[in-house]
Amino acid sequence: MKLLWVFGLVGFVLSRWVDCLEDLNVTDLSHFESYGVSSNPLMVGLTLIEGAAAKGAVCLDGTSPGYHLHRGFGLGVNNWLIQLEGGGWCNNVRTCVYRKKTRRGSSTYMEKQIPFTGILSNKAEENPDFFNWNRVKLRYCDGASFSGDGQDEAAGLNFQGQRIWLAGMEELMSKGMRRASQALLSGCSAGGLAAILHCDEFQTLFPSTTKVKCLSDAGLFLDAIDVSGGRTLRNMFEGVVSLQGVQKNLPGTCTGHMDPTSCFFPQNLIANIRTPLFLLNAAYDAWQLQASLAPASADPHGSWRECKLNHANCNASQIQFLQGFRNQMLNAVKVFSMSKENGLFINSCFAHCQTERQDTWFADDSPLIGNKGIAQSVGDWYFDRAGVKAVDCPYPCDKTCHNLVFKSGKKDPFPVPQHISHLSERKGAGMVVNGVLQQSNEDGEINT
Ligand SMILES: *[C@@H]1O[C@H](CO)[C@@H](O)[C@H](O)[C@H]1NC(C)=O
Ligand SMILES: *[C@@H]1O[C@H](CO)[C@@H](O)[C@H](O)[C@H]1NC(C)=O
Repeated sequence: MKLLWVFGLVGFVLSRWVDCLEDLNVTDLSHFESYGVSSNPLMVGLTLIEGAAAKGAVCLDGTSPGYHLHRGFGLGVNNWLIQLEGGGWCNNVRTCVYRKKTRRGSSTYMEKQIPFTGILSNKAEENPDFFNWNRVKLRYCDGASFSGDGQDEAAGLNFQGQRIWLAGMEELMSKGMRRASQALLSGCSAGGLAAILHCDEFQTLFPSTTKVKCLSDAGLFLDAIDVSGGRTLRNMFEGVVSLQGVQKNLPGTCTGHMDPTSCFFPQNLIANIRTPLFLLNAAYDAWQLQASLAPASADPHGSWRECKLNHANCNASQIQFLQGFRNQMLNAVKVFSMSKENGLFINSCFAHCQTERQDTWFADDSPLIGNKGIAQSVGDWYFDRAGVKAVDCPYPCDKTCHNLVFKSGKKDPFPVPQHISHLSERKGAGMVVNGVLQQSNEDGEINT
């Protein structure tokens, strides 16, 4: 496998990294989302769903939802991979009104083409098991993980995530998915949560002869206590669920005995999902650290600031707190992981979304647990080649992580890219943040 990773060269990636940490809105995940950089990625065009509006399936601003489809070929023509896009949530009228003027709330602002890398790549050497499948990215424009049902007429907001999900599935069925022999519902971040929420519904779309499974990447959002003893994420989810009318679309197995906000947390859902599910998550999920555990609102003195930017700056008591978070995550998957149908890959990294980035999904230096990387683990589980329940040893034992390292400083909307080519030797991490390439080696030194 000969892959060249050219970091910092590609403009479309840079555009995703201009928000630096200081500007993080808790509800906005966009600065975590990057496709990783692969030389010469496949670009796939946006298709709007005709007729979705007639079914009430519209984005926050009333525009039609959309998707990107790259057709399968060869032995993969009857296999379908659906990737639900992520990108945070909006939890009140203010944040939803803001969002409807962005690509996360309106197809007017969506990119007309996006790169398909990692699990979406069409090249066997980048994506050994799924490269020749029909691969779809369903765009996210409702702000409630494809699960809302309601509206706010006064504010001009449509909360139609559930209908967008259904209209998307109907559209893909009409494009040939109804003949699928194998199907995988996947998604990252808010899309990873959506993949959990919709997993069993996805399976019911197909006859029992179709092999159907689900994969959640960085979707294991924990109902955790933040560094000041509050519950930042629960408060936010409470707003999402109540504002957007999510309750009626949550699994009855949960809402029968728990409040709706609790039923938006995967930890209260995963043990009851009937369809085989794979959970891929970093034990020190970088987004959860920044937005759920130690957001500025919970850290008024900024004592977590440096630790949030770079794990190497965390002191012993902070690391201890983070080990507690990892323990909560392992507890949350305990019952889930007893089913032999399910799969698990919890690596001890400071990462978020590892399937669509080429460097984390499948490259010479991709993260490993034992000697197995993410693409191979997901493939082994999907195709029943091997059971996969991989839990990493605690930080800092893993030297294969691609940790996210953020540069502090002023927001620069037009960063000048730095060019570094052929990162052939793995140095622990290579990450473009705030438009500047940074590489942190295993000791956490930053080389810009
Ligand atoms: C999020 O941050 C951006 C940039 O700092 C700001 O312009 C925007 O108003 C914020 N969004 C919300 C919903 O607060
Ligand atoms: C470590 O960080 C915490 C903040 O999380 C702070 O309260 C504590 O004083 C720090 N400890 C040392 C030894 O610097």
